[in-house]
Amino acid sequence: MKDRINNFNAGPAVLPEEVLKEAQENLYSLPGVGMSVLEISHRSKTFDSIIGEAKDNLKSLLSIPDNYHLLFLQGGASTQFAMVPMNIMPPNNKADYIVTGSWSKKAVKEAKRVGAVNIAASSEETSFDRIPNEFNFSNDAAYVHFTSNNTIYGTQWNSEPETGDVPLVCDASSDILHKKIDVNKYGIIYAGAQKNMGPSGVTFVIIRDDLLKRSPDNLFTMLNYNTHTEKDSMFNTPPVFGVYMIGLVAKWLKNMGGLDAMYKVNKEKAELLYNCIDESNGYFKGHSQKDSRSIMNVTFNLATEELEKKLIAEALANGFSGIKGHRSIGGLRASIYNACPKTAVEELVKFMKDFQQKNG
Ligand SMILES: Cc1ncc(COP(=O)(O)O)c(C=O)c1O
Repeated sequence: MKDRINNFNAGPAVLPEEVLKEAQENLYSLPGVGMSVLEISHRSKTFDSIIGEAKDNLKSLLSIPDNYHLLFLQGGASTQFAMVPMNIMPPNNKADYIVTGSWSKKAVKEAKRVGAVNIAASSEETSFDRIPNEFNFSNDAAYVHFTSNNTIYGTQWNSEPETGDVPLVCDASSDILHKKIDVNKYGIIYAGAQKNMGPSGVTFVIIRDDLLKRSPDNLFTMLNYNTHTEKDSMFNTPPVFGVYMIGLVAKWLKNMGGLDAMYKVNKEKAELLYNCIDESNGYFKGHSQKDSRSIMNVTFNLATEELEKKLIAEALANGFSGIKGHRSIGGLRASIYNACPKTAVEELVKFMKDFQQKNG
């Protein structure tokens, strides 16, 4: 077996080799420090510069304006499903949600514990195979929530919904940093790090300053965004290793030429796979409608479950890991996040074509 195989896992997912190598080298001892990042105080100057540099690099990659705070929290994106409504739904306790998959539904479930939820659009009727283009927004919503990329179904927004003055909240867990976005259009962006940013255990949150005023005083301390903005993500012990790894990934992205360069490669990778699907004469059937296709998670089916099982088993034997679809929808899924090399996608396409030829 090769040292490293082609990794198409949905998350935790592939990380850049350069990042892993640097982390491995420094895990014994950070240069000039004599201890690893796992062993130093989070209040030390060394960690100060690690977290500071990670923030600076993310800020410059995404051109985050000064009226936004960057936070590294814990509890996964799933905790943000609750923190968002707890903090910014009051005082009217109403919000609009666009439902495009299982993760949006989970966000709705938590929001309903705080107040009224209006489903402004949903694609559930067609098995979440598309991004809606018609919305029934309410006129007194505290915010509009959407999921920019639907990891399980393989659909993705091309551009964010227009919500005027109503703050836009985005779960960007599976496509954060895959391209440049205009952060000014958002009130809050949150993402579990484990797909496109680093290891699991850290949640990255970007929140616009004015929204902090909405948090009720009686919120539990750890669930109040103000606790974390006031203490710069250091109210309690932060996930130090995760922050360190995110810093290395951000540095890698900058060295790659930034998010425009990354986006170009991401589009090329997705095109290779979608072309393979489209040119297979229906042998591979894409789940997503063409105009809603994700360039992060490519989902598809074969004619029978038996064939799908055969492909997954042969793929694994040939060094392709993680292409089994999510247990809720079955089929196949190749997650091709930023760190997935183009060569891995080229090899997968070749394998798929060979499989079709032998089993078509
Ligand atoms: C779009 C999206 N939102 C939320 C989550 C949940 O993230 P976490 O496991 O960090 O709570 C996931 C996890 O796969 C996801 O893909």
